[in-house]
Amino acid sequence: MVLDAIRRQFYSQRKEWDSHFFLTGAEALSFMEDHPTDVVMTDLNMAPMNGAELLGVVQERFPGTVRLLLTGAAGVKSTLPAALLAHQSFSKPCDPMELREAIERAFRTRLASTTDRMRDLVGSRGALPSVPEVYSELTRVMNDPDAGLNEVASIIERDAAISMKLIQLANSSMFAVAQRVESVRDATSYLGMNLVRMLVLSAEVHQGFSASAAQPGFSLHREQAHGSLVANIARGMSDEREVADRFFLAGLLHDVGRLVLASAGAVDQAALEGEVPLHASVGAYLLTLWGIPLPVVEAVGRHHDPSAAEPRKFGIVTAVHVADALAHEVTLDDHAPATPMDEDHLRRLGVLSRVPEWRSLAEQLVRPGGADAA
Ligand SMILES: [Fe+2]
Ligand SMILES: [Fe+2]
Repeated sequence: MVLDAIRRQFYSQRKEWDSHFFLTGAEALSFMEDHPTDVVMTDLNMAPMNGAELLGVVQERFPGTVRLLLTGAAGVKSTLPAALLAHQSFSKPCDPMELREAIERAFRTRLASTTDRMRDLVGSRGALPSVPEVYSELTRVMNDPDAGLNEVASIIERDAAISMKLIQLANSSMFAVAQRVESVRDATSYLGMNLVRMLVLSAEVHQGFSASAAQPGFSLHREQAHGSLVANIARGMSDEREVADRFFLAGLLHDVGRLVLASAGAVDQAALEGEVPLHASVGAYLLTLWGIPLPVVEAVGRHHDPSAAEPRKFGIVTAVHVADALAHEVTLDDHAPATPMDEDHLRRLGVLSRVPEWRSLAEQLVRPGGADAA
């Protein structure tokens, strides 16, 4: 039986995790009433209360608890309504290591998060979109070395809004693609599968928030433009394709916490923001739940205080911090908290002298053809 198998898998973790097993949703809920719980994992097929109903109640009553769902072999697609209630879904049979990692990630975010207030805010209904679906599917397909352009393009094309957004982004001046991009397939072949997958993630994230993030003074469009500029500045800071792609992803998502706060109705954002802006930790928390690579999560979480991450050499954390500061500088944009570039930090890492080069890169991106083209 599934429960027994999981119980056996978790036995080795008994010293680190305090795990409890229940046969019904009602038993689990009554336990949770008296015992604060970090993570709930449930099978979808349970009776009388099924897994989706259980997660719905958990979301309502314990928004700070991480919700994991095991679905049947048919996959997440056919069980979408249930999957949306979960922070992460797994189709059976699933790899025990994958489950373990998901739970460990959940613990890490629990530890990394600063306050209960923040957890409740992020976990509450409507504030936190579930793992972006198209992105997850692309990630899964691209893990297969035989995955080709056509396969990737066809997954994206199933979502018309995302396809349009992608084509629009690929044609923007940021990418300097020589020919006009007319299709998802073109975009994928010009930009490469990995970069396209990241643009899809960004489009999905913004789409997920568009309905809810309607706050006075908050512009989703401006947020997106800023994310995209920071991403492109950061991407230009490394000559290594893979590294540059990671920098790009972290740049795109660095302020995602601002969307969460806005859609959670945190109008008193200024009051919520401590010395280190809260949106940075909220964003890192969300991305951890989504299973985004940890270096990217760390860069998002530390983009306003890179030295706290204690990097020993120039890398993703510093790149995103610098790109963010430069983006504010070259666009004179003050929509979000901007921290001045941490020069001591850059000096320590021996990269302070590269700032002028990075600044002109940022200026180029904003005014590609010189001052008169702006
Ligand atoms: Fe920020
Ligand atoms: Fe920013």
